[in-house]
Amino acid sequence: MKSIKLINIGQLVTFDSKIKKMIRLKNTEVVIENSKIYEIGNNLGPADKIFDCFNMLVTPGFVDPHTHPVFFNYRDKEFNMRLQGSSYEEISKLGGGIINSLNDVRNASKSELVNKVMRRMDKFLELGTTTVECKSGYGQDNESEIKSLKVIHEVNKTHQIDMIPTFLGAHTFPSEYEDDHDGYVDLICKEMLPEIARNKLAKFNDVFCENGYFNHAQTKKIITEGEKLGLHSRIHADEFQDSGAAKLAGELGILSADHLMAVSDEGIKSLADASVIATLLPGTTFFLGKSKYAPYKKIKNMGIEVALATDYNPGSCNIQSMPFIITLSCIHFKMDILDAIKSSTYISAKSLMLEDKVGSIEKGKKADIIVWELSKPEEIPYHFLVNSIRSVIKNGKIVFTA
Ligand code: NIG
Ligand code: FE
Repeated sequence: MKSIKLINIGQLVTFDSKIKKMIRLKNTEVVIENSKIYEIGNNLGPADKIFDCFNMLVTPGFVDPHTHPVFFNYRDKEFNMRLQGSSYEEISKLGGGIINSLNDVRNASKSELVNKVMRRMDKFLELGTTTVECKSGYGQDNESEIKSLKVIHEVNKTHQIDMIPTFLGAHTFPSEYEDDHDGYVDLICKEMLPEIARNKLAKFNDVFCENGYFNHAQTKKIITEGEKLGLHSRIHADEFQDSGAAKLAGELGILSADHLMAVSDEGIKSLADASVIATLLPGTTFFLGKSKYAPYKKIKNMGIEVALATDYNPGSCNIQSMPFIITLSCIHFKMDILDAIKSSTYISAKSLMLEDKVGSIEKGKKADIIVWELSKPEEIPYHFLVNSIRSVIKNGKIVFTA
């Protein structure tokens, strides 16, 4: 493979894992070889190709650690119902919400879903996301959940983006199990998880632990069963109400607790005690028109590591842009811009157990890089309505140029 040298970098902003801090390098060059970062420094040797950055900002590609992209139809009708005053929870009770996506995913063929997911991945890449966690969760039966995970694998084989599959069988209870929730939990534990583990279809196992969805006992059962089979765990926790899900996440010592809009102080302490990563999704709060964002400052002050993600899905958050998530985090969490970049690159990679491979521009890591039409990171949240990305480099290849 040919080498590429990035020259005239205005500022290179990345997490440095040796000193465990974000750094800004000026007057630096980067050489990429065999899809990896080969060297960072000044006056580096010759390369097969020169990429002139014209004094622009360079950052790592984004790692989005929480998305639900395997759906068929958009749910703009529900969005409009919310504009008329209904809440997400009320719409779910009327048969909207997750259940609404379930029938079309069950009826869709694998190749129809592959086509849709492929286009969604193109969009992620254009917006600078080079690694994306992708959940199943709109099938809710063995066949459709496995079909959804296979869609992720099939797209991942051909698409440039890296997709990390998560099984979310425990997203809601399908109508067949309306009166037998524990029966559905048994189906997950006895049939779905063993087949998924046997065929290595998912790296993570996720549960929507919330009042009206999966309770503590059911969550614990599904998480424990998944771990026995080698799957790592994450939980949708305290999204709408404090149901003690973050506390449970700490007790179970899982990798990441996500959402946390309604988390209690006790829940935060439990996450801190067990070093659980808090994955915050301010796009969902924004898209649902809610005003109470996750208590980022409290979470940060307890020493908890924070990852940022889009939560891209057809119901609660039709947002694919990590730069926009950064804007929301800066405005509503009062997050420092370098912390926001760290949370959407290095910490989000850590929440996917990938921090040794992606999430920072360091020697030996994958060459996943964004070259911005901006000169410094402080401009990212400011120029939020246009795509300020000039080029995206994934595995050392230029995969998008504006
Ligand atoms: O993360 N909370 C559960 N799942 C999604 C919503 C999914 C949907 O509405 O389709 C979320 O917000
Ligand atoms: Fe989600």
